[in-house]
Amino acid sequence: MDNERRMPVHVAIIMDGNGRWAKKRGLPRTAGHAQGARVVEQILEDADHMGIRYLTVYAFSTENWSRPDSEVRSLMNLLRTYMKTSLAKCAKNNVRIRVIGDKSRLDEDLQVSIANLERDTAHNTGIGFQIAINYGSRDEIVRSVRALAKNVRKGLIEPDEINENMITNNLDTGGIPEPDLLIRTGGEQRISNFLLWQTAYAELYFCDTAWPDFSKKDLEKAVEAFNSRERRYGGLIS
Ligand code: IPE
Ligand code: IPE
Ligand code: MG
Repeated sequence: MDNERRMPVHVAIIMDGNGRWAKKRGLPRTAGHAQGARVVEQILEDADHMGIRYLTVYAFSTENWSRPDSEVRSLMNLLRTYMKTSLAKCAKNNVRIRVIGDKSRLDEDLQVSIANLERDTAHNTGIGFQIAINYGSRDEIVRSVRALAKNVRKGLIEPDEINENMITNNLDTGGIPEPDLLIRTGGEQRISNFLLWQTAYAELYFCDTAWPDFSKKDLEKAVEAFNSRERRYGGLIS
């Protein structure tokens, strides 16, 4: 392999370990989420400076509704604040925001802030920042397939014409290249229903660092590991 450092185009992150980070410090779990939210902003900036073109982060899963009401409320409030305060920053840093996941279950005011933020940053040309909220990969695939089924019913396509591209394009990530690197922080080694379809060939990187402690150094380490791998797509190395 040559020594040239290749930057992954799209990095996806399962930001895990907030609760354990807080517990270790004798703080409520919500303090871990608050620190985690600050880290997201920093890592977005770092990723952009490193030349990463797309960053996708898992903020709230379809399964996270089963947490205690108070924790869900506090996570939603953090997201609410983020949507309201980040526009100025996005404008300054040329960031383009897209929220992936089923937004229809979110509070009305949050849906409105998200729509405004997506609209107002749509023409930015810098890093693409995807935030997964009420996101579950299986749910996303179901919604994509439903959209195609409706087109079949309307007679726009034949069932046999449905192909991988159509399913890909109807996912919430439609139009965005699939992640080449998936990072999970916090020590667990599982996917937890994140981007199952899109990460079919992503390199996986697991680290023990809890998300609130994650820094540019950790991101660089992940990129280094990515660079040391021989990427294959089922064929032989070219
Ligand atoms: C990740 O941290 C943030 C969310 C899932 C919202 P956790 O809250 O899962 O933290 P741990 O895994 O319990 O430490
Ligand atoms: C995955 O973390 C979801 C997010 C990071 C938003 P979880 O902590 O919810 O996942 P599990 O329960 O460990 O699989
Ligand atoms: Mg967790």
